[in-house]
Amino acid sequence: MKMYRCRICGETYLGSEAPSHCPFCGAHREAIVDTTEYPEDINQVDITEIERNDLLEAIELELSNARFYFAMAAHKDDMKLSSTYKRLAKVEAEHCELFCKLAGVPEPEDLTTPGEASDDWCANIEESVAREQRASKFYADAMGRATNERVKEVFGAVSLVEADHIELDGVASRLAGC
Ligand SMILES: [Fe+2]
Ligand SMILES: [Fe+2]
Repeated sequence: MKMYRCRICGETYLGSEAPSHCPFCGAHREAIVDTTEYPEDINQVDITEIERNDLLEAIELELSNARFYFAMAAHKDDMKLSSTYKRLAKVEAEHCELFCKLAGVPEPEDLTTPGEASDDWCANIEESVAREQRASKFYADAMGRATNERVKEVFGAVSLVEADHIELDGVASRLAGC
């Protein structure tokens, strides 16, 4: 057994080898490092006004998406889809917590409270694709605006994770028979 740490969300992973994606935030393998290589002060950054505004927008975006996915997961008529979107909800909540750390603000209290979703899986999955496209693009743009290396690293990594979620929506869509 080895101890790994995700450079993006900071969570520890115990296993015989590094996972292909962080199970907590979805970051790609290059972000998974030996636990000794993880600087404890990694999120103590001096941010610009532009970075702060982008982080605050990111927090709202992740809060909204996490709550949407918790609402989707609350539909137990299809447990495969419910469990998939529960995982997605937790990944988005992890992103929200990370952005809060970088912005130096407390986590929203309603982060795990289900929001609003339709009763129709296909309509929800379609909405999910639109949310993930918006998120992935916003983070790519925010990465371009950022000057701090850590902030750039996080926006870049999370942009790729949201793009992966669009792929996941495709799998879910077939599962739901949309
Ligand atoms: Fe992670
Ligand atoms: Fe996210």
